[in-house]
Amino acid sequence: MTKIVGVSFGTKNGNNDAFCKEALIAAQEAGCEVEFIRAQDLTIKHCTGCITCVKMLMSGRGNMCIHKDDFDWLAMEMFRADGVLMVDPIFEKGASGLFHTIMDRFGPRMDTGNNYICADIAQKNIAEGKPGKMPDPAIMSPKVVSYIAIGGSDWGTHVESDHQIQAMTPSWKVIDNEWFSWAKTALMEDEMVARAHQIGVNLAEAAKDIEHAEYKGDEGICPHCHAKDFYIKPGTARAICTVCGLEGELSIVDGAAKVTYSDDEWHKAHDIASGKQIHGMDIAQNEGRLAELKKTDAYKERIKYYKEAIQPTQPEQVA
Ligand SMILES: Cc1cc2nc3c(=O)[nH]c(=O)nc-3n(C[C@H](O)[C@H](O)[C@H](O)COP(=O)(O)O)c2cc1C
Repeated sequence: MTKIVGVSFGTKNGNNDAFCKEALIAAQEAGCEVEFIRAQDLTIKHCTGCITCVKMLMSGRGNMCIHKDDFDWLAMEMFRADGVLMVDPIFEKGASGLFHTIMDRFGPRMDTGNNYICADIAQKNIAEGKPGKMPDPAIMSPKVVSYIAIGGSDWGTHVESDHQIQAMTPSWKVIDNEWFSWAKTALMEDEMVARAHQIGVNLAEAAKDIEHAEYKGDEGICPHCHAKDFYIKPGTARAICTVCGLEGELSIVDGAAKVTYSDDEWHKAHDIASGKQIHGMDIAQNEGRLAELKKTDAYKERIKYYKEAIQPTQPEQVA
């Protein structure tokens, strides 16, 4: 049976919970099994940036994190479903802090490319009698995802891109990416409730046939990923999509902003295999440079200098 898991990041029984449940009710009516999770019920620690996960994956030793908390349970509930819905309150114009924390915990550990590399190395190691651990295949299984952002005002201009970036790590296909503004009373606004219901219907249909699933949201501006959020290079008309990273020429056509990418740009998109490979090679080169530098006395001296400089204050030291 097709399964949809809905995660609400809002307050207990608030608008986010209600809209998550409304979309899940629609999915249930469409014949799916559904599960509802409240992110605030869980203990999720911040990513420390230790990159133990990368070292484990790149040496074929499996998929793991140094933290022992509820994240692995949450991630596996998502990975075992066919479709994921995340309903998130807008904080400071973007995704909530908890959403960002969960997004950080996804990447680079849950990056599809990194897990395929791990599987290849592990398989080879095991065949040669060396230690190796395969990542859970559920991590790499195709999935569809929709996002709903709920804001108390109309301050939310980077929430859609914040959300969409989460889908890039596990290579999930985005179906809807909605921003409800002035939505403090959303659960009483029939038009908004109906839209949340439709998002549930769209997600259920997409989850039943992931291979042919298509984006159902508005056209947006980015011709590759539909994002509306761009970094404009000062003094130029060059625009970089803040989600897929493609760079193109900004123009106004019939009074509307348009971004055009050249033919040799498309393969660099951060959400497709070729773009991830380019990024992976760039990172590997940079890490290699760091590894070499670390062996030098100059590097060791500079580390010592900063280690011995101004010391951090601990809470008990503050009067
Ligand atoms: C720390 C904080 C920051 C917020 N920032 C924004 C904001 O930038 N834009 C906005 O539209 N709403 C903002 N809000 C309002 C929340 O998005 C809103 O209260 C929430 O979606 C209501 O959800 P609930 O009914 O599920 O609790 C903020 C709320 C808090 C607590």
